[in-house]
Amino acid sequence: MKLSLIPAPYEISYLPGFSRADAPVETATDSRLKNECFVIHIDGKITVRASSDAGFFYAKNLLEQIKFQCGQNIPNVHIKDIPKYSYRSFMIDSCRHFVTTENLKRMIDHCAKLRFNVFHWHLTDDQGWRAEIKKYPELTEIGSVRYGSNFGSEQNDEIHSGFYTQEEMREIVEYAHKNHMIVVPEIDMPGHVSALLASIPSLVCGDKKVEIKTRAGIFKDIICAGDDESYDILYDIFDEICAIFPDEYIHIGGDEAPKEQWKRCKVCQELMKKENLADEEELQGYFINRVKNYLSQKGKKVITWNESLNGGNLDKDITVQMWMDRKGLSAKSGNPVIVSDFFHMYMDYPYSMTPLKKVYEYNTDINSLVIGTDVPIWTEYVRNIEYMEYMCFPRYVAAAQSAWSIKKPPYSQFKAQLTELTDYFGVENAAKQEEWDPDIFTRLSGVINHFGAIAPVEAVRKHFTEKKM
Ligand code: ACM
Ligand code: ZN
Repeated sequence: MKLSLIPAPYEISYLPGFSRADAPVETATDSRLKNECFVIHIDGKITVRASSDAGFFYAKNLLEQIKFQCGQNIPNVHIKDIPKYSYRSFMIDSCRHFVTTENLKRMIDHCAKLRFNVFHWHLTDDQGWRAEIKKYPELTEIGSVRYGSNFGSEQNDEIHSGFYTQEEMREIVEYAHKNHMIVVPEIDMPGHVSALLASIPSLVCGDKKVEIKTRAGIFKDIICAGDDESYDILYDIFDEICAIFPDEYIHIGGDEAPKEQWKRCKVCQELMKKENLADEEELQGYFINRVKNYLSQKGKKVITWNESLNGGNLDKDITVQMWMDRKGLSAKSGNPVIVSDFFHMYMDYPYSMTPLKKVYEYNTDINSLVIGTDVPIWTEYVRNIEYMEYMCFPRYVAAAQSAWSIKKPPYSQFKAQLTELTDYFGVENAAKQEEWDPDIFTRLSGVINHFGAIAPVEAVRKHFTEKKM
């Protein structure tokens, strides 16, 4: 009997005979094995070796997967497992639609079985600020409340609110740690900051009043990068964020920050002159580097979305998260890279656009500096946990196998194994095969419907002509 194991192990060899599933389990610490690696040997008894708690945790989960599949008699095997990437992340956007701590834990439970080891938590955006900051209570008093939601078919003027107290965020960190995940909070800047600017108006270029947004999009109000006071306020916020999130990384955003206001702002332009910055893209590099320098002193590493590379002056110790990078700067810059290409790895795109096979087969090895991958679920169109599970599963299974398995089997084999293991992953609302494996006509109409809801016809045409199907 051949086992179906997901994520696929690095090495598996079958030994003669079978053992009982309830055979005694012996564990032994083996310092020769690297962090997260493990060995399982089944031959009458079950022996597990690892050098870290994570390694033992993964081995225990894998034994459960084997028992799920085999029942009482399990084949004798020797399994050695090693992760491909050290950074295996999933991202949840808590801003466009608030996600309760209970539902975050539910997603963490699912993801722990898949050996994701990073929960990237998108906590701030134009449509809501979700993290309690004690020094600035207005961030949640004002910033976590929006009056209306205008996302596709959801059109209303109801209050949408919600934030996490510091205690709740610590509870999520503790829960993630128990599941051998770190938590990377994202405080997005200098763009995607309408909720921040509505709460603390002195951060904006000029003296414009900014509203919290009720719709999706890219908005031109951004943080004034020329004003020293902006940095002082951001550092206060990061002092509290760093005290809540003890793990090594902080994500400081950097995506989709239009530069019109910086071009017009006297204070920003003066700083550019003083610092010899050629254009506003360099000003973004300067801004991200400066915030990074502050966080480095606090012992943190910083992650930014790939747009921060546009100025060519981003410090090399910053990790770049590639999501939409037509110029390929992430692969060329020499910075560590996290890959989350939006055409292959965004879970909020419909299955018609990003079927399971497309997620599975995408080659994330864009260069030798890739430390891992991240699969985001943005929540403009994701209003509840049922739909979140539907969009993420089984695509998260494919993404997890790509992140973990050095020897990734062909898609046909993965698909067969997934069918056998669907119940093991226990995700109540996972998509069915006819949904994650749509025929071409369903794909065409699905893409048109998706773009029809959010983008002009030109975007549909581009999607097809660029052969991104
Ligand atoms: C992004 O999707 N704006 C990172
Ligand atoms: Zn300014």
